Amino acid sequence: MASAVRIALPTAADTRALGGRLAGVLRAGDLVVLDGPLGAGKTVMVQGIGAGLGVQGTVVSPTFVIARVHRPLPGATLPLVHVDAYRLRSLAEVDDLDLDVSVGDAVTVVEWGSGKVEQLTDAHLEIRLDRADQDETRTATLVPHGGDWAARLARLV
Ligand SMILES: Nc1ncnc2c1ncn2[C@@H]1O[C@H](COP(=O)(O)OP(=O)(O)OP(=O)(O)O)[C@@H](O)[C@H]1O
Ligand SMILES: [Mg+2]
Repeated sequence: MASAVRIALPTAADTRALGGRLAGVLRAGDLVVLDGPLGAGKTVMVQGIGAGLGVQGTVVSPTFVIARVHRPLPGATLPLVHVDAYRLRSLAEVDDLDLDVSVGDAVTVVEWGSGKVEQLTDAHLEIRLDRADQDETRTATLVPHGGDWAARLARLV
């Protein structure tokens, strides 16, 4: 894919920092779909996004709650909805959870979301995290889907 961007992430701090940079181009209604094997660093990336957005609370794996809402700190504007789609069939089920923010007003980041959420939005950013066998380095592949994601990715790198 010509517009996909690949970024090497040697340490967890690098993954968190990329999340922080990504937060700088995010806006209300955005959907980010994160995939990659167990322990690839998906939650670490969301921690960086949360720090960059300036949200309350500690971003941890939402595994047992399906979705967690992080409200913006004073001075910040965007809530973060952190979803673990592992046991979810579609993003419609997230709306059914009756969260106290709507997806249209928040940034929604979905771990394990590939194949489940794309059809519901006309645009999203796909991030795949892969881990090397030899060391801790992860590779992020960022793939724009629709909207102005390609232009936003160009600003990011
Ligand atoms: N380059 C790196 N990027 C991200 N995390 C790294 C890196 N190197 C080592 N790590 C470590 O790998 C672990 C990644 O865990 P994390 O919970 O973010 O993975 P995950 O993809 O969310 O897993 P799960 O599939 O269980 O949700 C952390 O303990 C982190 O410190
Ligand atoms: Mg995780």
